[in-house]
Amino acid sequence: MAVLQDGRNDIEQQTDGQPWVLKADRLTKRYGSGCSYCSVLIDPDHGNRCPVCGTVIACADVSFTLGRGEVLGIVGESGSGKSTLMQIMNLSLPVDEGELLFQEMDSQGHASAGPVNLLTLDKYARRVFRNERLGIVYQRPELGLNMNFTVGGNVAEKLLLANWRNVGRIRERTSELMRLTELSPERIDDDPKKFSGGMLQRVQIAKALSSSPVVLLLDEVTTGLDLSVQARVLDLIKQLRWELHMTMLLVSHDLGVIKQLAERTIVMKNGRVVESGLTDQILEDPQHPYTQLLVSSAL
Ligand SMILES: Nc1ncnc2c1ncn2[C@@H]1O[C@H](COP(=O)(O)OP(=O)(O)O)[C@@H](O)[C@H]1O
Ligand SMILES: [Mg+2]
Ligand SMILES: [Zn+2]
Repeated sequence: MAVLQDGRNDIEQQTDGQPWVLKADRLTKRYGSGCSYCSVLIDPDHGNRCPVCGTVIACADVSFTLGRGEVLGIVGESGSGKSTLMQIMNLSLPVDEGELLFQEMDSQGHASAGPVNLLTLDKYARRVFRNERLGIVYQRPELGLNMNFTVGGNVAEKLLLANWRNVGRIRERTSELMRLTELSPERIDDDPKKFSGGMLQRVQIAKALSSSPVVLLLDEVTTGLDLSVQARVLDLIKQLRWELHMTMLLVSHDLGVIKQLAERTIVMKNGRVVESGLTDQILEDPQHPYTQLLVSSAL
């Protein structure tokens, strides 16, 4: 494990021998116009905002590699840039700098074409990629679900965008996913409003998985749930991991959640990666003072 040196880290090289699926290179997103003081006055040790022009560095120089079938954890306190990063990964937020390379693979897991920088795709291609290859689950179900559609309607929404046309097959797929996520398929025509918090996360997961995405993005999916409900949702994610060999980016402010699922982790503070490496090593021997603080407060 190496502590970050100017935005680069050893995590880029380590995917445990698996071929990589996504490679993020120096992703940077700023909110604000920027000024000549920005680069000197924004001190990541003290904040992410320029005191002169108010520009916020939501994330800066974030680089990592995601191996096929890997779960990579992203941890950091509130405001550290985790959701910004997830929106970039979901191709729903334009970046100021950086690349996001995607490696297409055949069923054998071999690279089937050269990598594509997803951030250069046009709007249409981006939408197709998002609907077919990505699935995202949010902390707040109303971000991931249309609360005025039924469960079936929500899953159908994603599948229709991923070019599924046969209504019977869409319903069949939805029932299959409901079983997988331990929801009763009899509730396919129920409104999400009738579901509990834990069940809503299952519905979001079912929707996210519907198009058999290559990468699942999970943004604080258990935050705010009761502990017992949280444990069940985490068990479901573990099960998906083993049964579907899902590749996942798992964001949480909670090291306990990261510890259960992610073999490697990156630690973010004020939009920057301050430490990265094997999760167990980070937990046992945190190098950066910020990580030490996170680890000691999680004990
Ligand atoms: N639309 C926006 N306009 C201005 N600042 C934003 C916007 N979205 C996020 N930010 C700022 O970017 C930083 C990172 O936010 P976020 O990615 O949501 O962090 P996290 O998910 O780790 O809590 C925060 O300081 C936040 O206030
Ligand atoms: Mg967030
Ligand atoms: Zn400035």
